[in-house]
Amino acid sequence: MDVPRTAPPQASYPAAWRALHWATAVAVAALLTAGLWMTARGGAGIWDGITNTLYAWHKAIGICVLLLTALRIAIRLRLGVPPYPQTLSPTRRRLAVALNHVFYTLLVAVPLLGWAGVTAYPALVTVGGVDLPAMPLVPQDSALAARLFGIHGTLALLLGALAAGHAAMALHHLFAARDGVFQRMWPGRAGASNGQG
Ligand code: HEM
Repeated sequence: MDVPRTAPPQASYPAAWRALHWATAVAVAALLTAGLWMTARGGAGIWDGITNTLYAWHKAIGICVLLLTALRIAIRLRLGVPPYPQTLSPTRRRLAVALNHVFYTLLVAVPLLGWAGVTAYPALVTVGGVDLPAMPLVPQDSALAARLFGIHGTLALLLGALAAGHAAMALHHLFAARDGVFQRMWPGRAGASNGQG
């Protein structure tokens, strides 16, 4: 008897949700790269146009990630999450859900800490000379800004490490487990999107 090489198709995330997921992934990769690059340049005393442009775009894209995450949380609360395939053990399902919650927490906390830091510093200017609004209730205080930036950087690196593990697990589902979990989030997936409600 032929053994199927792949699991049957699974319910996938709605198209808009998948688009938000991949937009966030690209933005976070860009933010981690720009964040490490600009602080290295600043730390080396290089305050030229490139460094300033990196800072300006880092702040602008970071705020976009905050807004996209708020939208994702709203969609998730409204639609629920498509069911995981039965082939995934209850423990693996619980782990996946817990990791998703950690991601959402970091995707809110990291940009909020960055915004609080630039408010305290203050350094609110972004792309095209447009200023961000100051975060309410955050005083101008350079020692506070340094602490906020320290926590911002540490949590951003934790986010990057978890995202790398998450990508490795996604590739495991695609190439080794072949259980349809990867396809749930892949943009090219045709057909059944199935939010629970
Ligand atoms: C998901 C969103 C974000 C990620 C992943 C991220 C990531 C990073 C990383 C990796 C660094 C370098 C940390 C280090 O070298 O120690 C950094 C620094 C920085 N980030 Fe973000 N960031 C995000 C959002 C934001 C936002 C929204 C703002 C401000 C509006 C911001 C402002 C800054 C500033 C000013 C620094 C430099 C801090 C310093 O000079 O010590 N970031 N960020």
